[in-house]
Amino acid sequence: MNNEMLRKKVDQLTIQEKIGQLIQLTGNFFDTHNDSVVTGPQKKIGLSRSYQINNTGSILNTVDKQQIREMQRTHLLKSTHKIPLLFMADIIYGFKTIFPIPLAQTCSWNFPLIEESATVLAKECYEAGIHVTFAPMVDLVRDPRWGRVMEAPGEDTLLGECYAESMVNGIQGNGDAQHIPKGKLAACIKHFAAYGAAVAGREYNSVDMSESMLRNFFLPSYAKGIEAGAKLVMTAFNTLNGIPCTGNKWLNRDMLRDTLHFDGVLISDYAAIDELITHGYAENQTSAAKQALLAGVDIDMKTAVYANKLEKLVKQNQDLHALLDEAVLRVLMLKNDLGLFDDPYRGIQTEEDITNTILSKEHKETALKLAEESIVLLKNNNHTLPLSRNQKVALIGPYAEEKATLGFWAITGDEADTITLKDGLHALLDTSCLSVARGAYLLDKHTENLYDKYNDKLPVESEDEETLLEEAIAIAKTSDIIVLAVGENTYQSGEGGSRTNPVLPATQLRLINALSTLAKPIVLVVYGGRPLILTEVEEKVSAILYAWFPGTMNGLAVANLLTGKANPSAKLSMTFPRSVGQIPIYYNELRTGRPQLDEENTHRFASRYIDQSNLPLYPFGFGKSYTHFQYSDFRLNQEEMTKNEQIKVTLTVKNTGSYSGKEIVQLYICDKVASITRPVKLLKAFKKIDLKVGESQRIEFEIDNNMLKFYHPDGSFDSEHGDFDIFIGKDSAEHLFKRRIRLVSKHNT
Ligand code: BGC
Repeated sequence: MNNEMLRKKVDQLTIQEKIGQLIQLTGNFFDTHNDSVVTGPQKKIGLSRSYQINNTGSILNTVDKQQIREMQRTHLLKSTHKIPLLFMADIIYGFKTIFPIPLAQTCSWNFPLIEESATVLAKECYEAGIHVTFAPMVDLVRDPRWGRVMEAPGEDTLLGECYAESMVNGIQGNGDAQHIPKGKLAACIKHFAAYGAAVAGREYNSVDMSESMLRNFFLPSYAKGIEAGAKLVMTAFNTLNGIPCTGNKWLNRDMLRDTLHFDGVLISDYAAIDELITHGYAENQTSAAKQALLAGVDIDMKTAVYANKLEKLVKQNQDLHALLDEAVLRVLMLKNDLGLFDDPYRGIQTEEDITNTILSKEHKETALKLAEESIVLLKNNNHTLPLSRNQKVALIGPYAEEKATLGFWAITGDEADTITLKDGLHALLDTSCLSVARGAYLLDKHTENLYDKYNDKLPVESEDEETLLEEAIAIAKTSDIIVLAVGENTYQSGEGGSRTNPVLPATQLRLINALSTLAKPIVLVVYGGRPLILTEVEEKVSAILYAWFPGTMNGLAVANLLTGKANPSAKLSMTFPRSVGQIPIYYNELRTGRPQLDEENTHRFASRYIDQSNLPLYPFGFGKSYTHFQYSDFRLNQEEMTKNEQIKVTLTVKNTGSYSGKEIVQLYICDKVASITRPVKLLKAFKKIDLKVGESQRIEFEIDNNMLKFYHPDGSFDSEHGDFDIFIGKDSAEHLFKRRIRLVSKHNT
C-alpha cells in the first residue's frame, strides 16, 4: 500500500479504533493462557478483554510462535478493519542463540561481526513471528553502578555509533530503505535520551546535563541508528533537565523529528506515559495523555492512558485529532513496511517449511567467534596464560559449572543450551588434568532482594560453605594452576540492578583470599554485567580474563582462550575504576584548568584525589594478547590541512610474539584550543587487524575535517582552525605516537 492508501485507511477508523492502534499490551492481557514475558511493574489497567482483542494495535513480549499465530488469527477474526497486530519483543542480543551482552560485544571492536550476530538474532526471531525488536539500546554509559551498562555499547561515542549502525543493519537489513525484507525485523533505538546518565547510577533517576554534553557525547549514537534507518525509537524513563523524556516536546519533536529527521514510530517505554504523573509533570491521566501526544509519542506501552483518555481529548480539540491521525498513520506505515497487510503471519513457519535455523551450527559458530573476541584479558603476569597441555588444572568457583551466563536481558534464551566452563575445558584438556570444585556460593547470605520472582532460586551462601572451601583447597593443593571462575549474579545487573559498590560478593572474596595463600598461580575468570571493581583481588592473582556474560557458547569460548586455541583480542569499551569514589570515570573527560599532569604531581591544588590515584584500574581501550605487537615507522604526509584536505597517518604494526592474533590500533585526537573546552582526547578511528607470527602490516588512517568537528552552543556542527594533537596507541592511556597537526584556512606558501 502507498501512503495515500494508508491515509485513507486511517480515515475509515473511528476515534476509538485509531486510538487502539496506539496501544500496546502484553499478551497475557489478551489471552489468559499466554505466558508473555513481563518486564516491568504489573498494574491493572481497566480495559475489557474484548476491547483488548478487537482494538489493540500491538503486543509486547509474546514470543511463542503458536501463541502469536493464534492471537493474530483471533484478532483478525474479531476486529472490524482487519489491521494485523504488531508483535514486539525485547530480543536484545539473541533469541535462542544468545550472544555476549552488548557491553562485551563492543569490546570486540568488530562491528561486521556484531552485524552478523544481529542478522542471526533477526533470523531466529523472524521465524518465531516477531516483527519488532526493542534493540539496539545505544545509551552512552559512564557509571558502572548502573545495572543497565550491560546492555549498552559503553562510554565512547564513536563505538556507540558503530554499534548502533551495525545492529540496525543486521536487524533490519540495509537494502531497500522502506520495506523490511524477509528474515529481518524492525529495529528500535532506545532510550531517547541520555537514560545512561542517571544521577549516581541509580536506576530511573533523573538526568541533568548541558546541551553541549548531550549533543557532543550522548546524542550521536541515537542519531547514527536513525540514519541507518531504524523504524522505531523508544522514549526514556528519565527526566532530562527537569522534563520527563516521554513528555518532552523539545526532545521528541524538535530534536528527534526536526533535527535528527526521524520519521518512524516513537514508542513510550514501559508505562512511561502514566509515570508522567509520578514525575509530577502531569496532574492526572488526561493531562499525561495530552503531554505525551503533544510530545509526539505514538504508542503507549503497557498502560491504558491513551486508551482511556485520548478520545475525549481529541473530540474537544481538532489539533490533537490531527496529531492522533499522524501517530496512527505512522503505526500503519510500519505494519505496511513489514508487509503485514499482505501476510499477517509473516515469518511463522508451517510444519513443511521448518528450516531449523534456531541454534543452528552456523549461529553457534558466530556466537562463539563473538564471545572469543569480546572476552578481555586484563592481566597475564609471566605468561601464566595460556594453560599448557601438561598442567594440572583446578577449576574452582561458583561459575565453574554455572549455566546462568546469558545475562539479564536474554529473556528468550534457555540456560539449558549454555556450555559451562567445565564442559568447555573438558573438551580441550585431558580429563585426568582437570579437577573441579565449587568453592563457594555465588551470593552472600544477606544478599539484597534481587528479583522477586527468582529470589528463592538464587545461589545463596548456606551452611555447607566451609565444606565447599575445604574441597576447593584440597584440589588446589594437588594442582599446578587454579582457574577461579567468579562473578556477580545475573540479577545484580540489568534493569533495576544498580549497585552502590559493584564488587565481588564477600563469599567469593573469601574463596579468593584462601586460595591465594597456597602459592599457586591463579587465573581469575570473571563473569559480570558491568566493570566490577577488582582492586582488592587484582594483586592476588596472576591473570584475569574478563568474560562478562558471554552467552550460549560461554564455556567453549572461555576454554579456547584459556588454552590458547584462541588468542584474546578484545579491548575495553568501558573504564574499570579502582574504587567507587572515582565513578563516573571515563577516558574522554573535559580538560580542567588544573590538570594532574602525571602521577608524580602531588600538588594539593591540582585536579586529583588526595587518597587515591586518578588513574583507573584498567583504562578504556585496554586489553592484552598472548602475542606482542610492535608499532613503528609512524609518518604524517603533511602537518597542516585545510577543511577540504586530509592528512594521512601511516604506521607499521608487526606481530613479534609467538601466537597469531588480532590487534586493535586506536587513534585519538585532542583539540588544543576551541570556543568550548574539548576533551583531553577522543577516539576518532580504529583498525582491527589480524597478524600471523612475524607478519607485519602497514596501516593508514585518514584525518579529515569531519573528525575535527563538534557541536557548538548554537547547534552548528563544525571544526575550528588551530592545533590538534594526534595520538596512536594500543589503548586510551598508552600512546606510542604523538604529533601535532594544524587546521588552517589556507596554506602559507
Ligand atoms: C525497558 C525497555 C524494554 C521495555 C519492554 C522497559 O522496562 O526499559 O528497555 O524494552 O521494558 O520490555
